[in-house]
Amino acid sequence: MISTDNASLVEKILRLKKRRNAVILAHNYQLGEVQEIADFAGDSLELSQKAAQTDAEVIVFCGVQFMAETASILCPDKKVILPDLHAGCPMADMITADKLAEKKREHPKAAVVCYINSPADVKAESDVCCTSANAVQIVENLRDAQEIIFVPDQYLGNYVANKTGKEMILWPGFCPTHVRIQARDIMRLREEYPQAKVMVHPECRPDVAALADAVLSTGGMCKYAGEEVARDLIVGTEIGILHRLRNENPRKRFIPVSEQAVCPRMKLITLETVLWSLEEMTYEVKVPEEIRTRARSAVDKMLTASR
Ligand code: 13P
Ligand code: SF4
Repeated sequence: MISTDNASLVEKILRLKKRRNAVILAHNYQLGEVQEIADFAGDSLELSQKAAQTDAEVIVFCGVQFMAETASILCPDKKVILPDLHAGCPMADMITADKLAEKKREHPKAAVVCYINSPADVKAESDVCCTSANAVQIVENLRDAQEIIFVPDQYLGNYVANKTGKEMILWPGFCPTHVRIQARDIMRLREEYPQAKVMVHPECRPDVAALADAVLSTGGMCKYAGEEVARDLIVGTEIGILHRLRNENPRKRFIPVSEQAVCPRMKLITLETVLWSLEEMTYEVKVPEEIRTRARSAVDKMLTASR
């Protein structure tokens, strides 16, 4: 629900959005008021699918840099704007194209699977992209690969390796927000809420994932919460998702594993910065053409496999 304090800001945003022929896409970790004004809120895979399909001229991306870059990779003729230039993903910054190229030289026969939380030039060095929603399927599809390098999230990589039974060369990246979700907190909450189901994101550490009933992307969690009969759900991911979970399931109780699981970069985007970005058409995110075409091949392979 939109508060009266925000009503005039929201009105201005919606008016300007129409005038600019813009679409507003928001990740599930965005502030509640930002998710409310979005045309669509979802996980990384759903947002890239929406970006690829839109006929709007402008995409306002309420998320982090790599998400806006992916929209630019898919939609070179559209103007993609990120309302705050500092909204980056620290995990994506844990790898560079040069370092990946070095690793590829050590393993010349390896296929490279790149988590979408990565810079565009790293995608350009990769064979195929994945998100948390389809990583297992993407790796399973690589039937002929003799070796697989998985970048940059070691914990998602570890989860996928366990699920598929494939040995992979893992990059030592991690999400600083998800490592705050601790196994001991899940054990405590399980005692407190014995009927509850536990769902966690695959960016969580392996000891945390091992304790969950379901390991899911943020979009997967929204679906699971709608279908699961349990009334209480313990949630192991960034707490922005609680807004949507509670809105969509008013009769259920959602208990965060940790109130500390906040992604500060996601929270840089506010109604004010969204309005500013529409007024000034800033900050434009544009991937250089030479990188874009190579990165596009890795992103397209993922989207084709996920249809
Ligand atoms: P999802 O694709 O599951 O929404 O995750 C994105 C992300 O950044 C998780 O930290
Ligand atoms: Fe990156 Fe973690 Fe924030 Fe997701 S929650 S955007 S992985 S820092």
